[in-house]
Amino acid sequence: MKKILLMHGPNLNLLGKRNPEHYGSLTLKRIEDLTVEEAKKFNYEIISYQSNHEGNLIDKLQIEANHCVAIIINPGAFTHYSYALYDALLDTELPIVEVHLSDIKQREAWRSISVTAPACINVIWGKKEKGYIEAVNMIAEHLK
Ligand code: DQA
Repeated sequence: MKKILLMHGPNLNLLGKRNPEHYGSLTLKRIEDLTVEEAKKFNYEIISYQSNHEGNLIDKLQIEANHCVAIIINPGAFTHYSYALYDALLDTELPIVEVHLSDIKQREAWRSISVTAPACINVIWGKKEKGYIEAVNMIAEHLK
């Protein structure tokens, strides 16, 4: 089965408790399960990984890029300033969809900037967990 890496950055392990108005009420596990279910429809396996640490995310990207055909990532706050993560994403040479649960364009000004987005084929924001379903469909379409 072809694999998609589903990656979450800092504080997203607290989903379910974190500001539900912005992030919805689902836990990270539930979001991962929903993504797995959607990916199954297209015969993709999901490899899930979350870390609060930039270096861990980069290490995982470097390892898994060799085994995966695409990446779905919510980099959390690293979105807005991690050029190291941007470089690591770019170096995978894989199709990547960036997902944000909240509407990053309608919050603090600094959140509307994504330094990681230029490494991605698309960015989805403001659709809560539905963004992940859309991301799987985008990747399936892209890899067709
Ligand atoms: C987020 C938006 C980021 O600005 C924030 O730091 C997060 C979550 C989102 O999913 O909406 O941790 O990526």
